[in-house]
Amino acid sequence: MASPATLNRLQKKAVEQGIDLERLPSHVAIIMDGNGRWAKKKGWQRLLGHREGYKALRGALLDASELGIKYLTVYAFSAENWRRPEEEVSGLMKLIETAAREELRTMHQNNVRVNVSGRIEELPKGLQDALEHGMETTANNTGIVFTLAVNYGGRAEIVDAVRDVVAAGFEPEDITEEIISAHLYNPHHPEPDLMIRTAGEMRWSNFLIWQGAYCELWVTKDPWPEFGSTHLLDAVKEYQRRTRKFGAVVD
Ligand code: IPE
Ligand code: IPE
Ligand code: MG
Repeated sequence: MASPATLNRLQKKAVEQGIDLERLPSHVAIIMDGNGRWAKKKGWQRLLGHREGYKALRGALLDASELGIKYLTVYAFSAENWRRPEEEVSGLMKLIETAAREELRTMHQNNVRVNVSGRIEELPKGLQDALEHGMETTANNTGIVFTLAVNYGGRAEIVDAVRDVVAAGFEPEDITEEIISAHLYNPHHPEPDLMIRTAGEMRWSNFLIWQGAYCELWVTKDPWPEFGSTHLLDAVKEYQRRTRKFGAVVD
């Protein structure tokens, strides 16, 4: 670990608040919720809430990277979000594509490795191209691994994994949890340790339901556009107060 003199601004703040930088969650997942309600409260259209949400995400990614989180996975569009009005869906697709293109330079400069999760092949071609370009450009970066879950559903991911397992010819008696895990979208990522949800809803909404089986949940009432470094530090502080037991007895 770096000496206090080499700690960056956010790490110093974290240490001042009692956070142990040696025990950070390695993988943080975020359900970025509440953009629509945030906009509605201001009398604005829902899409303007999503636009503000994009700004909050830019900050959260840089904060997570600065703090020393190794993996950040964010839920940008669920496999169930196609049920929304067509205008909102197409607006979100355009926004994610614009964000992927506009942020690439900053992410690359910050050594971020871009990654995706979900049924990407079902997305509009322009968005697929932007995501692929982001992944290719940052493939050799060694900093935080930033995964954008788009058209992602936890159940769909398990279905896709099982299809691959069957196609690979495994016999029923040879199928184990390890084999299912090895066929998920990002088999080399560690499981999430901490899952954050904004806007107060106490549910999972089909996010990382296999790999998140034992992650710690932290929910803030604040909507996603208001998420800032204080929220991230609060979540990590609370995470460090928890005792993770994985079904065992821990004294
Ligand atoms: C989260 O905000 C963003 C997406 C699901 C794409 P919402 O759009 O779900 O906002 P609320 O929950 O309606 O306030
Ligand atoms: C989960 O939020 C999906 C994303 C944040 C992308 P939703 O707003 O879609 O979840 P529900 O419908 O409230 O469960
Ligand atoms: Mg919502």
